[in-house]
Amino acid sequence: MSKPSRAIRGRVLTFNDDPQTAGSAAHEFIEDGLIVIAGGHIAEVGEAPALLAKLPDSVMLDHYPDGLILPGFIDTHIHYPQTQVIASYGAQLLDWLERYALVEEQRFGDPGHAAAVAGFFLDELARNGTTTAAVYCSVHPESAEAFFAESDRRNTRMVAGKVLMDRNAPAALQDTAERGYAQTKALIERWHGKGRQLYAVTPRFAITSSEAQLEAAGVLLREHPDCYMQTHLSENRREIETVRALFPWAENYTSVYDRFGLLGPRSLFGHCIHLEEGERRLLSESGSVAAFCPTSNLFIGSGLFDLAKARDPAFPLRVGLATDVGGGTSYSLLRTLAEAYKVLQLQDQNLPALEAFYAITLGNARALGLEDRIGSLAPGREADVTVLDAKATPAMAHRCERIETLEEELFLLMTLGDDRAISATYIAGERRHVRSGG
Ligand code: GUN
Ligand code: ZN
Repeated sequence: MSKPSRAIRGRVLTFNDDPQTAGSAAHEFIEDGLIVIAGGHIAEVGEAPALLAKLPDSVMLDHYPDGLILPGFIDTHIHYPQTQVIASYGAQLLDWLERYALVEEQRFGDPGHAAAVAGFFLDELARNGTTTAAVYCSVHPESAEAFFAESDRRNTRMVAGKVLMDRNAPAALQDTAERGYAQTKALIERWHGKGRQLYAVTPRFAITSSEAQLEAAGVLLREHPDCYMQTHLSENRREIETVRALFPWAENYTSVYDRFGLLGPRSLFGHCIHLEEGERRLLSESGSVAAFCPTSNLFIGSGLFDLAKARDPAFPLRVGLATDVGGGTSYSLLRTLAEAYKVLQLQDQNLPALEAFYAITLGNARALGLEDRIGSLAPGREADVTVLDAKATPAMAHRCERIETLEEELFLLMTLGDDRAISATYIAGERRHVRSGG
């Protein structure tokens, strides 16, 4: 057992279950709490006065008297080669891909460029309080190599994969079924389970993969059953029509992925907006995860994710929340919660603040099947921690004057908060971001 190296004091909030089903027993809040860290893991969590009394003087203590200390945020769907695509004007999905994303991604065959952008991206996640993400690289194995190397250097727990794409894309961005298979296999062997890195087999979506490539993706998953699978599903109407034309034998979009063995509890499907009932059944019965990407779905004009439908007891779906940068418009999971709230409001649904913060911590950890490692502040978990400041801006501080409850404070944070509300971010017990002036 390592000796305690650091302790973080402040107002501690963590979840042990989903407030939507478990109510107020789902969260634990300590007004003057302390998190003790040893060997990159959480050793103890409790009342600060009692724990401080027995800590050796050598332990580094960071005190945030007003700060709200949460588990690091988790993003279940994001594209690192799109940091210079975010905020591209005026196109729906297929045109947006052609005009912007698939142009920019051609730069990522250059390992120097890939490393520089991966570094920027990981720093930006930390600045936004995000400590784990499921990340698409580009089609180039160099892009995944650079990403994992940068993530390993920072000791962040990341899930990532090289995109598989062998048709309906610029020639410079195509692999082949065989090459994509071999490159993915080599990356899995090199990176999956190395330190905190995890691999996701990543066919971009059905439109850009041949049947042979989807078949190869299924083989990779059977050969490496503890790897993830990530792809896009049912985001946009034209996309769905194109899939129908490319796979005329398939009953629906989801059954294309099902045919090749790509559904399952480690499979993450971005968007899932326009699903038919048969698709919900396939996703539900396989334990697959739908990633709700509100800023992206609004910005690219894709549609409104139906959370109530996803919770339908007939075919309940596991749901993760995600930014989907660069289709998404913010790296911040606080901004993402704000847009999720509005998407649900438009459908007469709701997102109470405690459920929202559960979603971006333990909820997303559960979506990734990583709840025994990350997503909560409990002894034995990896020490990924985000410290929030509800008074980060003049408007927030002013609004705080009328706030009386934890729920109200959380709702303010998710409605007005962004990277400015992140005071500090810790990754495996190391402080990797401190807000300047904070
Ligand atoms: N579908 C296929 N590729 C992409 C992508 O890069 N972004 C989004 N939002 N949808 C996609
Ligand atoms: Zn995406």
